Amino acid sequence: MLLHCMPSAPSISRYVAGVEYAIRDIIQYAREQERKGNKVIYLNIGDPVLYGFNTPKHIKDALIKAVLEDKNYYAESEGVRELREAIAEKESAKGMHVMPEDVVVTNGVSEALDMIISSIAEPGDEVLVPGPCYPPYLSYARVRGVKPVEYATLEHEGWRIDMDDLKSKINSKSRAIFVINPNNPTGSILDEHTLKALVDTAAEHNLYLVCDEIYDRIVFDNFTSIGRYARDAPVVILNGFSKVYLMTGWRLGYICFNSNARLLDGLRTSVGKLARLRLSANTPVQMAAVEALRGPQDHIRDMVSMLGARRDYVMKRLDAIHGINIYAKPKGAFYIFPRIDGSLGYRSDAEFVLDLLKSKNLLVVHGSGFGSMGSMHFRLVYLPSLDVLEEAMNRFEEFVHSRYR
Ligand SMILES: Cc1ncc(COP(=O)(O)O)c(C=O)c1O
Repeated sequence: MLLHCMPSAPSISRYVAGVEYAIRDIIQYAREQERKGNKVIYLNIGDPVLYGFNTPKHIKDALIKAVLEDKNYYAESEGVRELREAIAEKESAKGMHVMPEDVVVTNGVSEALDMIISSIAEPGDEVLVPGPCYPPYLSYARVRGVKPVEYATLEHEGWRIDMDDLKSKINSKSRAIFVINPNNPTGSILDEHTLKALVDTAAEHNLYLVCDEIYDRIVFDNFTSIGRYARDAPVVILNGFSKVYLMTGWRLGYICFNSNARLLDGLRTSVGKLARLRLSANTPVQMAAVEALRGPQDHIRDMVSMLGARRDYVMKRLDAIHGINIYAKPKGAFYIFPRIDGSLGYRSDAEFVLDLLKSKNLLVVHGSGFGSMGSMHFRLVYLPSLDVLEEAMNRFEEFVHSRYR
């Protein structure tokens, strides 16, 4: 008899093997609960459109118009001129000198991030990222063999960046400081003193300073862009249309280079090559994005006021629960990142989150999915309506109380 040897599978890159995306990876456990007939409340994904914040009509109409007018071709790789002009105006108004030539339109901030990391770092290099941090910052670095190094943020001081810790982690392998402002998952906003210190530190150590401002208009407090302090430092701003303009599924974002920074010339060339390599961002959506920036902005005020009420409600309920600690009120975005007290008896945040899901059919994200500095926390999205949040908070409260019985 012939022995058939099973051929081994063709290899998989070890860089990709380590990729995780906690926010979506945990959904499989919720689906299991649903297969058993349970109704799960999802408080895991930061997509306002999924929770009834619909894309404004004038933006939808602009997309339909572009499609019907046959603007369905590949756009210029750097983006449609009119959109780059509108973006340059928006970002210049926030403080950084940005010309249309300083803008590259991407398929979401996600693609922008990939282009930036691919351009600035090689295997073995390091990038500094906030701890805790939106997970793709960790994963896109790892996919390129680049080490993400988390710098501390101080929970008891409103998740302020610990500049001493950040500086102590800069070495000859460091290539960039990444900042998320307002932050996901903590909802913190950087103060002006920190923004200035970040620019000074990046300039002193010859590092790129890349700031993700995708939540720049979803704020309950004063917000200042890093651009206000950019001077001629190598500052790059990432932004997009997913959150403020409720266009998550349409996938559109952009990169803005500081027009005054001569040190960004190499990075611009590299990003330009990558933009050409992937041909272009979605053309009709770019037309709709022009309307988003130039058309009525009323929905933003309405959304922020509804989110403010939801944040306050969730804060009030969580604050009253013994065993759950919130030291800082979120000032922007739509997340809250509470600490799980040791008295609850959990060895890890993942164990807490899975137990919550299995006993109460409530899905939040474990904090360690946002990097090691997020451990013993969880992230909760307060996008749903107040009645859904009330049901979620009732379930949550019962769950935590049951741990003390
Ligand atoms: C900080 C941050 N950056 C980027 C993204 C993804 O943006 P996009 O939809 O433009 O890819 C998110 C989505 O949650 C985010 O929270």
